[in-house]
Amino acid sequence: MRTKVAIIGSGPSGLLLGQLLANAGIDNIILDRVSKDYILGRVRAGVLEEGTVGLLDQAGAGARIHREGLPHDGFSLAFDGRDHRIDLYGLTGKHVMVYGQTELTHDLMDKREATGGISIYEAANVTPHDFDGGIPYVTYEKDGTTRRIDCDFIAGCDGYHGVSRKSVPESALRIFEKVYPFGWLGILAEVQPVSPELIYANHPRGFALCSMRSHTRSRYYIQCPLDDKIEKWPDDRFYDELRRRLPTEHAEAMVTAPSFEKSIAPLRSFVAEPMRFGRLFLAGDAAHIVPPTGAKGLNLAASDVHYLFESLREYYGEKSTAGIDAYSERALKRVWKAVRFSWSMTTLLHRFPDTGDFGQKIQEAELDYLVHSTAASTALAENYVGLPY
Ligand code: APR
Ligand code: PHB
Repeated sequence: MRTKVAIIGSGPSGLLLGQLLANAGIDNIILDRVSKDYILGRVRAGVLEEGTVGLLDQAGAGARIHREGLPHDGFSLAFDGRDHRIDLYGLTGKHVMVYGQTELTHDLMDKREATGGISIYEAANVTPHDFDGGIPYVTYEKDGTTRRIDCDFIAGCDGYHGVSRKSVPESALRIFEKVYPFGWLGILAEVQPVSPELIYANHPRGFALCSMRSHTRSRYYIQCPLDDKIEKWPDDRFYDELRRRLPTEHAEAMVTAPSFEKSIAPLRSFVAEPMRFGRLFLAGDAAHIVPPTGAKGLNLAASDVHYLFESLREYYGEKSTAGIDAYSERALKRVWKAVRFSWSMTTLLHRFPDTGDFGQKIQEAELDYLVHSTAASTALAENYVGLPY
């Protein structure tokens, strides 16, 4: 088989890239090691920047998000027993869209199917070859046979645990990493959200977040120790703990329902540089991870894909390599700003085991400054709604 771009990974990065390329007449094949249903069963974050929604529209997969997505004009920072609203729209003229990543993935898969794009699921041992200097190709196993796809480029959109980044010689990579000393315990429940906007709470017992997927589905999180076990968190205990971390008005208003998903996720910041090796590009989680506090993971994947798509379009349309030569540097500039923002939101809102009284006072001063200074609130809002591409 031959294609122009072999895309490893059928998550949001791979699907969005595949669709943008296909719409521009650049053929591509997507390979994933798991099944479509498995991918659609994963629960991930759900706050999209306007730029991400714009890319979904550009891909021709934006109809449902405009019908079912919830545009949000602001969110709450809760501390000291009360809410402090960050007026995203008033401060920046922009909204964010609350829409689950699972739904976005679904929309992109439907679009790919409708436009006849080739996706190969349950492909084992996917391996990129000869991307540094030679003519690249990808091998994989399916139904007991090894198959080969010849291509011009390989896009590594295969997430943090994927094969693409691991195929690059270690000496060619620089890794930057920070692991945080806590996790997030999250639940999904079919129940009306406690508030129409998201609440990020800083509390002496630890961080809490009230988010949602729709008017009838809530997504709630609490900070927990890294070695905690979900078996120790029956729903009643979870809701009690969440209520204790929220201002009284919300705690009293909260309606509960049994959770249908419950998991603990560790938090880390991770960047691999560069994001290109010859004819292999990395995009999305394959190249970087951010803690979820700023809701940037999916949005960063989208901005990588934007830069990569424009570079490839330029290559095929104008026979110029300027775009692909600049891809890594352009993408990383935006990546690092989001890494910084996610780190600062995480640092601001969580209890750290060893900050001590001094660290605690600094956190309180920063929160107070943030909500009382228009300049500081604007900087927060500008990052939250998404920096320009
Ligand atoms: N071979 C083939 N496919 C693979 C391999 C492999 N060796 N390893 C991983 N994959 C597939 C996974 O099965 C998955 O479907 O690559 C896909 C990667 O998807 P994601 O992990 O969702 O990563 P990405 O598409 O970059 O999505 C951006 O940012 O923070 C997040 O939650 C956000 O998941 C979102 C991500
Ligand atoms: C979510 O809804 O899952 C969510 C929302 C905002 C975040 C993180 C996660 O910052």
